[in-house]
Amino acid sequence: MHKLLLVFTLSLVVVFSACTKKEGATPNSPTANATEIVVGEYGSMTGGEATFGQSTHQGIQLAFKQINAAGGVKGKTLRLESVDDEGKPEEAATAVTKLITQDKVIAILGEVASSRSLAAAPIAQQYKVPMVSPSSTNPKVTDVGDYIFRVCFIDPFQGTVMAKFAHDNLKVKKVAIMRDVKSDYSVGLANYFKETFTKMGGEIISEQTYVSNDIDFKAQLTSIKSSKPDAIFIPGYYTEVGLIARQARGLGIKVPLLGGDGWDSSKLFEIGKEAVVGSYFSNHYTTDTTDPRARDFIEAFKKEFNGTIPDGLGAMGYDAALVLADAMKRAKDLTTADIRDALAATKDFAGVTGKITINEQRNATKSAVVVQVAGDHNKYVTTINP
Ligand code: PHE
Repeated sequence: MHKLLLVFTLSLVVVFSACTKKEGATPNSPTANATEIVVGEYGSMTGGEATFGQSTHQGIQLAFKQINAAGGVKGKTLRLESVDDEGKPEEAATAVTKLITQDKVIAILGEVASSRSLAAAPIAQQYKVPMVSPSSTNPKVTDVGDYIFRVCFIDPFQGTVMAKFAHDNLKVKKVAIMRDVKSDYSVGLANYFKETFTKMGGEIISEQTYVSNDIDFKAQLTSIKSSKPDAIFIPGYYTEVGLIARQARGLGIKVPLLGGDGWDSSKLFEIGKEAVVGSYFSNHYTTDTTDPRARDFIEAFKKEFNGTIPDGLGAMGYDAALVLADAMKRAKDLTTADIRDALAATKDFAGVTGKITINEQRNATKSAVVVQVAGDHNKYVTTINP
């Protein structure tokens, strides 16, 4: 009799706790006497876009180190729990589930690539754990819900930046586009560019497609060559862009190549060599900056990582971490709901990539820079304001 009662009571407890755990009804939060705050990070530390994850990780690490050295947040130390998603959307979703349910993180930094942020954001939203993407630019990312934020501009703006630059600065009339149809970022940015460029009187004379991990682009490039464009817009990531550039030059295509932030990697020049030199892309920041805050960051980064000069991803990772820590400091309590509210109230935060104000759509309105590839250095050309 007693035994039966015990079994019954135990099963009730199991059923009850299973119910409360579902849907993340009890969001993670450190206990009052905890000495640490655990923050999750997911990114592509390996794979075809490994520099995105690695640079972002370095930026976050540096920010956490500096914040902890200055006393942490509400007297607690920030601890980073990182997961490699290998550049795969499915892995990104798994990573975020693990961070929330096993590591009990209170907030998440990531991803960079929009397709991976889109795969993982619904999970963060479901569990009501705030997620801050350092540099996913596709508009759909923050549309997922009120717990999803970013500290960068979005692609309707970035597309306009490059369309204006092509039209006003380079004075080109006919542009060919080559987009990665598997990437939300690439598809979106190509559309936004096209919209503005044609509105300005320009013409898109050829539209070609590829998918990430392709290595032979000659068929598309041959078709582009016969359409005689003045420039080619390739809103892709550095590995494919480097290969496309080399094959384009190999086929005798000499016109400038144009792109977006996805070009930002030291590997672009390593893969593309002379073929990418002289081409232009839009970005979140430039190492040619004279802003004292950004210069301090560049120096600290070099010191921390063996002389490595931070790319845009390193800078955005740094800013995302600082914005999150600032929100945690302002949050009433260290609950996911209070951190969410504090993030939403971020105003004029002085980041190394510019002033960050989170708007109604949980995006940041910021200016973009256009840079020109000049070997392993990208030369600052101009700043375009929103
Ligand atoms: N903006 C890109 C995306 O949304 C990611 C990216 C950001 C790549 C910054 C390089 C530099 O997919």
